Amino acid sequence: MLDTPMVKNKQTSRLEVLRKFASLAPFSAECLQALAKGSVHFSAKPNQVIFRQGEVSESMYVILKGRIKFERDDHKNETINSGELAQYESFGEVSMLKREPRQSTVTAVTDAEFLVIERALLLEALGKSTPEEVADFFSALNDQTRKMYDAQLLEVLSKRSLSAQMEVEKQRALTQMVAGVAHEVNTPLGVINTAVAIMARELAVPAEMTAQRAADIAESLELIRRNVDRAHALVQDFKKVSVSQLVAEKEKLNISDVVSEIVGLMAVSLIKHGVSVKIVDKLKPEEKSWIGYRGFLSQVLINFLTNAERYAYPKGGGQATITLELEDQDRLRLTFADHGAGISKENQSHIFEPFFTTGRALGGTGLGLAIVHNLVTNSLKGEIKLKSQEGKGAEFTVILPRVIVE
Ligand SMILES: Nc1ncnc2c1ncn2[C@@H]1O[C@H](COP(=O)(O)OP(=O)(O)OP(=O)(O)O)[C@@H](O)[C@H]1O
Ligand SMILES: [Mg+2]
Repeated sequence: MLDTPMVKNKQTSRLEVLRKFASLAPFSAECLQALAKGSVHFSAKPNQVIFRQGEVSESMYVILKGRIKFERDDHKNETINSGELAQYESFGEVSMLKREPRQSTVTAVTDAEFLVIERALLLEALGKSTPEEVADFFSALNDQTRKMYDAQLLEVLSKRSLSAQMEVEKQRALTQMVAGVAHEVNTPLGVINTAVAIMARELAVPAEMTAQRAADIAESLELIRRNVDRAHALVQDFKKVSVSQLVAEKEKLNISDVVSEIVGLMAVSLIKHGVSVKIVDKLKPEEKSWIGYRGFLSQVLINFLTNAERYAYPKGGGQATITLELEDQDRLRLTFADHGAGISKENQSHIFEPFFTTGRALGGTGLGLAIVHNLVTNSLKGEIKLKSQEGKGAEFTVILPRVIVE
């Protein structure tokens, strides 16, 4: 009853399609015919889950159309992307054959169509095949699995090196600040030293305390007080920021203060490169509160600032603007903009990728913005966007929830 010409045609074309799959190609026409007849057509919408890691199922899938992606949660609950497959590739064979739980979650990336082949049907085809055909089937399957594991390994390695680099980056941020703070603290200490010397000289010669002398001494004392305050503030800021680099602790912060403290700590490096930073704070006092991480935000800003020094104004001299405003009721918006070299259209899509750099010769590793992206989206639960025009500058917009909820 089913053997109407239409059904036959459909099966013939299915058979032709099945031949295009590396693992099925070795089968004889008769076996393919049986697979074509016994398989079930299935379609999925973008983001539709085909199967989940851990599920046990007795079928494999061949992709007729569209793309799918694999994701795997490792034992640390870290998601590992193990790549995508497209038309004429197949998946799910190994766990189907071994009757094991699925190793990954598979999701459709685009509209997709599949043929689903049940375990029994495949075994039957294998049973009817010659030893040579069976060997070819398994060797194609082996190639496919190896490709998958290679992709997973690469992904794991690049994640590891990113997290190792984040440690290095913390150290780098700290070193940069230590140098800066030491330099900055020197200035008030120098002033104090001079004021003390003047006072010592004045007081070494016993003489009548005239109004003039009293005024001179009072002035020196005032100078000392102001500079002790300045040195104290610098050391306090440094302590806060450096401790926050080492221990990630969520705090109730005033985001405007945090931003200006960090910029203050980078002052030496900025002056050296001739970059001036303007902070435009549009937040009302009651809008400044941020339950967040000082250390993560400081790493984000330090990366923006060092990139502006290195790439926006490689010849030195220029301005960067940090704008703080409310995005909406629950979110803050921090914009970092420079008016320097800008980023070409082509590079714009890559700058958040690990190891993408145009400055290898300048000592760039290409991890700065990858780390920024990671910190903003994972640790700070926010979003980051880039707008840039070559020759006109770059603008990074960071949206942060005012309260980070883990
Ligand atoms: N403000 C900017 N102006 C122009 N180009 C920029 C700017 N910021 C980043 N870039 C471009 O983005 C690339 C990637 O930046 P990223 O911070 O990730 O790496 P890097 O600075 O080269 O190296 P690293 O930060 O690891 O030292 C840079 O090589 C540069 O081409
Ligand atoms: Mg950088």
